[in-house]
Amino acid sequence: MSTVYLNGAFVPSEEAVVSVEDRGFLLGDGVYEVAPFYEGVALFLDRHMRRLRRSLDAIRIDFDVTGLDGILRKLVLLNQLEGADRSLVYLQITRGCALRTHYFPEGRVEPTVYAFAKTWSRPADEVWNRGFRAITVPDLRWPRVDIKTICLLPNALAFQAAKDAGVDDCILVKDGVAIEGAHQNFWGVFDGVAVTHPETNLILSGITRGVVLELAHARGIPVVERPIMLEELSEAEELFYTGTTGEVRPCVEVDGRPVGDGRVGPVTRALSRALLELVEETKEAASAVTR
Ligand code: PDD
Repeated sequence: MSTVYLNGAFVPSEEAVVSVEDRGFLLGDGVYEVAPFYEGVALFLDRHMRRLRRSLDAIRIDFDVTGLDGILRKLVLLNQLEGADRSLVYLQITRGCALRTHYFPEGRVEPTVYAFAKTWSRPADEVWNRGFRAITVPDLRWPRVDIKTICLLPNALAFQAAKDAGVDDCILVKDGVAIEGAHQNFWGVFDGVAVTHPETNLILSGITRGVVLELAHARGIPVVERPIMLEELSEAEELFYTGTTGEVRPCVEVDGRPVGDGRVGPVTRALSRALLELVEETKEAASAVTR
C-alpha cells in the first residue's frame, strides 16, 4: 500500500479522497510537476519547484510552495524508495473545491494539493540501443503549453495514437513544425549540430531539456535553439527526446522511415552518457553530505 500526500497529511492511498467539486476534476483547473529521484536523491528539484511557481502564477492559483520540496522528499522515504534506482514524485495543485462556475470561486478557497511517489525504470540497454519508433500527429494543444496544466487530453490522444500504431512515441506537429513529444521535448541533429525548439509558449520548458542544453555546451557539442520543420526530419542525422522519465531517448524511425542510418547516433549517445554521469555525480555528492 502506498502513502500519498493530500492537503497537509500523509495518508494511505486508499484513504485519500478528493471532492467531486474539486475544480481539477470538473474543469482541469490545476497544474502539476513530475520530479525524478535516483536512489532517493532528488535531481533538479529546485528547478521543478521554480517551474511549479511559474505555472501557479500563470493560472493565478495563490499558493505558497515553500516547504513542498521537503514534503516530496519525505514521500519518497515513506514509500521506501530510497533504494530504488529510479523513482519520481507527482505533485498536483488545483484551485480547490467550489460550486462549478467558469470564473474563479469568490472568496478564499484552499487549493487541493496531492502528491504520490512511484518507481519507474529505464529501458534495458539492448532496447535503448535499438532506439525507439515514432509517428507524427497533429499538435491539438492550446497555445500555452509552457504552463504545466493537468489538461492533458490532447497529449493522451496523441500518445494513444502512437500506441494504436504499434510504435513507442509520437511527435506533435503544428504549422509544419515538429514541436515536441506527448511528454518529452524533441531534438534533431543536423550537420553535427543538436537542434531543439526555443523556449516559447509552444513547448513545455523541460527541466531535462535545460540540463541537456547545459551539458552540450559544457562538452563542446554545438547546439541551436530553433524550430525543426517537419520536412527536415528526413534529413536529420539523429532524432531524440529528453524528459524526466525518458532521460535522453533515441528516436530511430519516424512514420515508418529510418532516421539517418536507422541507428542510435553519436550525439544522442554522448548526451545520454553526460546526463547519466551527472546523475551519478549528484548521488555521490548527496552521499558525501550524509556521510
Ligand atoms: N512530462 N514536454 C511535455 C509536454 C511534458 O509533459 C514534459 C514532462 C516534458 C519534459 O519535461 P521534463 O524534462 O521537465 O520532464 C516536455 C512529465 C514528465 C509527465 O507529464 O509525466
